[in-house]
Amino acid sequence: MTDFDERYEDYKRKFEIVLERFCNGLKCEPGKFNDSLKYSLQLGGKRIRPVLMLAVGELLNVPNEKLLNFALALELIHTYSLIHDDLPEMDNDDYRRGKLSNHKVFGASYAVLAGDGLLNTAYSVLFGECFKGNEYVSAAKYICDCAGINGMIAGQAADLLHENDKNVEEDTLNFIYENKTAKLLMAATVVPSILCGGKYYSELNTFGHELGCLFQLTDDILDVEGSFESVGKSIGKDKTEGKYTGVRLYGLDGSKLKADLLTDRCEGLLERFEGDVLFLRQLVNFVRQRIK
Ligand code: IPE
Ligand code: IPE
Ligand code: MG
Ligand code: MG
Ligand code: MG
Repeated sequence: MTDFDERYEDYKRKFEIVLERFCNGLKCEPGKFNDSLKYSLQLGGKRIRPVLMLAVGELLNVPNEKLLNFALALELIHTYSLIHDDLPEMDNDDYRRGKLSNHKVFGASYAVLAGDGLLNTAYSVLFGECFKGNEYVSAAKYICDCAGINGMIAGQAADLLHENDKNVEEDTLNFIYENKTAKLLMAATVVPSILCGGKYYSELNTFGHELGCLFQLTDDILDVEGSFESVGKSIGKDKTEGKYTGVRLYGLDGSKLKADLLTDRCEGLLERFEGDVLFLRQLVNFVRQRIK
């Protein structure tokens, strides 16, 4: 294991403890509904949003304990977005995180309810934090806005609207990338700033945005070049579904050049911070080089 892997695993472990406690506490009726809620959460996943939030927190000296419930809410929202994203009416994907998608196991109606359930519970977790002070209210609102109708959901709507469009326009692609993907990574980078009085707010906003766009571009690249074993999703679906992707706009080689550019931009932004940004720089490169 490299130093980077160890640190990543360390942040991830801290988060998994909170997630495991959350899953163990779920006692919903009927039992099938309870199982559908837990299923997608416990399949694993990279947990990159929680890891990113904790790592930015460390840079800003915001203790993990202050962030873990925000990280939990964010991962609940992300997981709900994946469950709904896989539905036959959306991307129609049978596999997620290496296993059958939620709707393949529990049926589409339960998958809709599982997604609704995770979203509602995320809000309950966030409201629970709001008693702690005004900055917690602001952080909770920031996450809601990133996830909401001018955030992730708008991006998903545009992604579907532009399926099978003949031409791919860069402005539209940027809108889709920014909203469907980057907004939830921005939530991860900005929440720690909000919790310490707005330190590096604008830098972290931009950093989360650029990293989020890089993340979606490498997701699009992996849909062409990745393997099911590593990515845990069916490969080649973007093309068959006529998805509006970076690969369609830039080509495969062009996408890699664009990914290098976004990587440079992220690294440039990190130079503006005082303190140890080594892990974040390595995380950017992990996103650029990732095979999962
Ligand atoms: C997949 O997100 C959806 C995108 C935004 C590209 P992740 O690649 O973070 O999925 P998991 O959580 O690791 O399964
Ligand atoms: C998904 O984008 C973004 C979400 C909000 C879930 P994709 O549709 O490309 O994600 P994958 O490839 O299914 O994970
Ligand atoms: Mg999608
Ligand atoms: Mg999808
Ligand atoms: Mg994809």
